[in-house]
Amino acid sequence: MPLPPVVYLDNHATTRVDPRVVEAMLPYFTEEFGNSGSASHSFGKTACDAVGQSRDAVAAHISALPREIIFTSGATESNNLAIRGVVERQQRQEKKSRAHLVSVRTEHHSVLGPLQRLAERGCRLTLLDVEPASSDRAGWLDPEQVANALCDETVLVSVMLANNEIGVVQPLSEIAEICHDRGVILHCDATQAVGKLPVDVSVLGVDLMSFSGHKLYGPKGVGALYVRSRDPIVRLEPQIIGGGQQRGRRSGTLNTPGIVGLATALELCVQEMSDESIRLAALRNRLWTGLKERLGEVALCGPALDTKDAHSDLLRLPGNLNVALGDVDGEALLLAMENLAVSSGATCASNDPGPSHVLLALGMDADLARSSLRFGLGRFNTESDIDVAIESVTAGVKQLRQFGSKLGG
Ligand SMILES: Cc1ncc(COP(=O)(O)O)c(C=O)c1O
Repeated sequence: MPLPPVVYLDNHATTRVDPRVVEAMLPYFTEEFGNSGSASHSFGKTACDAVGQSRDAVAAHISALPREIIFTSGATESNNLAIRGVVERQQRQEKKSRAHLVSVRTEHHSVLGPLQRLAERGCRLTLLDVEPASSDRAGWLDPEQVANALCDETVLVSVMLANNEIGVVQPLSEIAEICHDRGVILHCDATQAVGKLPVDVSVLGVDLMSFSGHKLYGPKGVGALYVRSRDPIVRLEPQIIGGGQQRGRRSGTLNTPGIVGLATALELCVQEMSDESIRLAALRNRLWTGLKERLGEVALCGPALDTKDAHSDLLRLPGNLNVALGDVDGEALLLAMENLAVSSGATCASNDPGPSHVLLALGMDADLARSSLRFGLGRFNTESDIDVAIESVTAGVKQLRQFGSKLGG
């Protein structure tokens, strides 16, 4: 008997490339394959034009200038370039090795990792706490916390816009005001927000912002870093040195098909965003209601689905749901649900065997964190996917509970 199709609800991990994006990319693999740096012939010029047009489009969608966009291999590289680039530049120019850095416990490992590396090399690192699991704003960072953490030595604050596990949206524009009053540079990892929420660097007030193609129905292996060029100019120490591409800030032959894919994917997200957010929020709410009805004891991890911020915007990504099931192990549940692709708070990263650091930062105990499931709903999901997911989780939980009660007695 053929296996039932697997329903994919792990869109925070990655997204399927939209066929319209693939179509836009295809000519740049086979026909227009030139190196955008080869100025001496038409192949190079065509690639250079495609990169230029994509840079203009990406910049316009976030209200930046084309020269403020550096193309990278993804958000991990963008985060490393932003954080290490700013700090190493300041250390070299001002000989400040004891620079103070501020970030948040719930950041992605590609932010925490470079920060920790800098801390091992003499910087002082403050990681801020977020609102606890019991709050309607669980996971939210109070801007007052940032204000209280800053000191004369602070050179960089890094706060993500939307969290990849619990979907909480942070108050970046308030945080930017605090940082700018004190002359501190603000980096934002907007990987889960770009393409899903309106993102305008002038409204957010950030100085550096990272994002990635594969989270927004574009290809893997391409991303971007926005770097402010006025009021103030942000200068970076390059992390990849070579042929001097991208004005020396990130050497390496540009990934023309990937860059065209990123620009096309972002364009589609922006065009479809308002209807898509409403559709995803409705699907997510159907999933939450269905799970509660069928299972009874499920706890929501992260902010309440209807909590709003000071600008009347919802505090949670529309396609995100994270639930703790209490008495079952998330990893065991994943194995029991063969027709559902989701992820669990038991392993927040494949190389990190512990429970999710994000859920622990909310004050959840390790067992509860291990019992959680993260759902990321996306463009290709339908109501019937949600109904399959409700059935599948319910059956999986019942099976594990029965097994557990047999073992228990
Ligand atoms: C919030 C966040 N930042 C950074 C990354 C890393 O992105 P990439 O896979 O493009 O390196 C991810 C991917 O999981 C993410 O969710």
